[in-house]
Amino acid sequence: MILENKVAVIYGAGGGIGGAVARAFAREGAKTFVTGRQRASVEALAKDIVSAGGSAEAAAIDALDEQAIDQHLQSVIDKAGRVDVSFNAVGISNTKILGVPLVELDLEQFSLPIISYGTSYFLTARLAARRMLANKSGVIMTVTATHSREGIPLVGGYGPAQALKEALTRDLSAELAPHGIRVVGLRPNAMPETRTIKNAWEPRAKSTGMTWEQWQQMLAARTHGRRLMTLEEMANVAAFMASDQASGMTGTTVNLTMGRVDD
Ligand SMILES: NC(=O)c1ccc[n+]([C@@H]2O[C@H](COP(=O)([O-])OP(=O)(O)OC[C@H]3O[C@@H](n4cnc5c(N)ncnc54)[C@H](OP(=O)(O)O)[C@@H]3O)[C@@H](O)[C@H]2O)c1
Repeated sequence: MILENKVAVIYGAGGGIGGAVARAFAREGAKTFVTGRQRASVEALAKDIVSAGGSAEAAAIDALDEQAIDQHLQSVIDKAGRVDVSFNAVGISNTKILGVPLVELDLEQFSLPIISYGTSYFLTARLAARRMLANKSGVIMTVTATHSREGIPLVGGYGPAQALKEALTRDLSAELAPHGIRVVGLRPNAMPETRTIKNAWEPRAKSTGMTWEQWQQMLAARTHGRRLMTLEEMANVAAFMASDQASGMTGTTVNLTMGRVDD
């Protein structure tokens, strides 16, 4: 087990990516502290992880609330003695962000993803780093999307928000890696089993006269393997990157687009 006895806090764990990452971390032996805006979804996740033999404790934490994040991290330290991994998997509802041409987009709608994603990643990373500095060890992680590297129409401030997070990953690493803290992002392509992708793309597929299956095939055709990644495959990489086996990786976002986006 590559994460045995590691203490990991996951933000946005009630979502598709956060949940899959938490399950993979727990399967690899980590003590997981799963947090999300809605208590019910993280409690259900924690119950699942524990019944599969893993370790999980749930808390309702708004990952935009500095005080709540800080107090929760202190409670993790009080219970587990340390924080080894911080994973921010927060995702903001796309219905508030996507679908409006940039020339018609108002400032508030443009800024929403930039401010929300930037603030949440900054706060969770900074507050975890303050605890990790004491141990001269830790891994800070997040998830971005291909929009950080591709020009895509009708995505408003979502692309700039993802690029911001990748830049912050590099800058955090430049400051923290000398103190033993690695900072690594993951950039997956669309994973169709998630509600995010289904909700964002199924209506687009319908409006162009394609079935959901045809739409997925079209997305898959842009990858080298002609298929889309599964949540489990993404989570396996997350666990490896969080582990000491990836001690040589920092200051970068791992390209999980299966060839769709070149590095
Ligand atoms: N799914 C994919 O295939 C894919 C691929 C590439 C990148 N991404 C990106 O990865 C991120 C996560 O995606 P996902 O598919 O896991 O989304 P998701 O299923 O919607 O999960 C996001 C989670 O974040 C929570 N959240 C939102 N605001 C929060 C806050 N302030 N504090 C705490 N939790 C908060 C949501 O809670 P509520 O339910 O209360 O809103 C939800 O549980 C998104 O940025 C997404 O665009 C996704």
